[in-house]
Amino acid sequence: MTETILITGANRGIGLELAHCFSRMEWQVFACCRQPESAAALVALERDYPQLVTLPLDVSAADQITALVQQLKQHPIDILFHNAGIFGPKNQAFGEVDEAWWLETFRINTIAPLKLTEALVENVAASQRRIVAAMGSQLGSLADNTSGGSYIYRSSKAALHMVVRSLAADLAPRGITSVVFHPGWVKTRMGGAGAQTEAAHSADALSRLLCQLAPADNGKFFSWKGHEIPW
Ligand SMILES: NC(=O)c1ccc[n+]([C@@H]2O[C@H](COP(=O)([O-])OP(=O)(O)OC[C@H]3O[C@@H](n4cnc5c(N)ncnc54)[C@H](OP(=O)(O)O)[C@@H]3O)[C@@H](O)[C@H]2O)c1
Repeated sequence: MTETILITGANRGIGLELAHCFSRMEWQVFACCRQPESAAALVALERDYPQLVTLPLDVSAADQITALVQQLKQHPIDILFHNAGIFGPKNQAFGEVDEAWWLETFRINTIAPLKLTEALVENVAASQRRIVAAMGSQLGSLADNTSGGSYIYRSSKAALHMVVRSLAADLAPRGITSVVFHPGWVKTRMGGAGAQTEAAHSADALSRLLCQLAPADNGKFFSWKGHEIPW
């Protein structure tokens, strides 16, 4: 039976490369993005892989989540992948944190993955693999933070990590495995040109890890290289 992954923020960066990886593996890919009409790279992928379907989704828009649920009614989702995210403003130094930006970053990075999981939990529960995965960040690791700064991004990802830990506990009785990934420092619009890893390379490694996940991995935080990262 064809397996299905839903990826948010699939129009560029790591999300786009993940969509490509799973398409190559002949999965059904629901590639969600804010503006399908200008998602040229996804349109090109759709031409090569008929099993890829582009769907509109601003993850912070409740009405769009409702519309998505209607559209995917009864469709099992083996992997629900929360990839969409923003860094927030460039300057997040002590004394310069903008409150409105902080709330917006939380809406997208932290609250949206929970709300989307709540909305699609029946689809995940009805699938074979039953996986909820979120793109966290090493910058959201409490244990790893010795350099400070980046208050907005760090706190939004640390809170996302906590959301996933609660999902891991709450959804385990339904056989759902919830995990967090750090994709490496990746060359994307967010990671910048000086980053160490190509998006395709990170996505390829992540897709392999996703396919190997087992219930024993529930509630864990993995790097793209497969080792566990301290929370
Ligand atoms: N790059 C790195 O080094 C790195 C490191 C650690 C973690 N991460 C995480 O990895 C994930 C992917 O990042 P990336 O590096 O690929 O960044 P990116 O190239 O900037 O892509 C971000 C994606 O998120 C989407 N997005 C932002 N806000 C959205 C919203 N409200 N609704 C739907 N989609 C939204 C963007 O869509 P638009 O085109 O519409 O803006 C874009 O598709 C993020 O969660 C990021 O925090 C990245």
